Amino acid sequence: MENILIVYWSGTGNTKKIAEEIRNAIVETNNTVTLINLKETIPHIEGFKKIMLGCPATSKEQLEGSTFMPFLEDIKTQLADKKIALFGSYGWGDGEWMRKFEAMISQSSAELFGSLIIKGEPEENDSRCHQFGQDFANS
Ligand SMILES: Cc1cc2nc3c(=O)[nH]c(=O)nc-3n(C[C@H](O)[C@H](O)[C@H](O)COP(=O)(O)O)c2cc1C
Repeated sequence: MENILIVYWSGTGNTKKIAEEIRNAIVETNNTVTLINLKETIPHIEGFKKIMLGCPATSKEQLEGSTFMPFLEDIKTQLADKKIALFGSYGWGDGEWMRKFEAMISQSSAELFGSLIIKGEPEENDSRCHQFGQDFANS
C-alpha cells in the first residue's frame, strides 16, 4: 500500500473535479491518497514516491503563474526517484501547455508516468480519470 500525493491548482473548478475523480479511482485500489489544493496548502513532498500534479491551461498555453509555477520551481530539485503523473483541464488549445509541463518534469530527474488532459469539466465517474488514476496507482 502506498500513499499517493495529488496536488492541484484550479481556477474555475474543472481541474479540481479531475483531481477528485482520480482520487476516487485510487482509493478503490489498495492505496491511500493525500489530496491538496494549492490555493489552501503548499505541501511538503518528501516521503511521497508517487505524485500527481494538476494544473489547467492558462494565459496562452502556460501553467498558472502565481501559485503553481513557484511551487513547481520549489519542488523541482526534490523530484529525483519519484514517479510523476500530470493532469489538467483546458479550453480551446491543442494541449501545448501539457507538452511544456511534461518537458519540465522530464528535465528533472523524475520518472514521468504520463499525462491526462480533459477539455472543460470531467464527467461524473469519468472513465478517463478512473483509468488514469488506477493505472498510476498500480504502476
Ligand atoms: C485566463 C485564462 C486563460 C486561458 N488560456 C487557455 C489557453 O491558453 N489554452 C487553452 O486550451 N485553454 C485556456 N483557458 C481555458 C481553461 O484552461 C479552461 O477553462 C479550463 O477548464 C480551466 O480549468 P480550471 O477550472 O481547473 O481552472 C484559459 C482560461 C482562462 C480563464
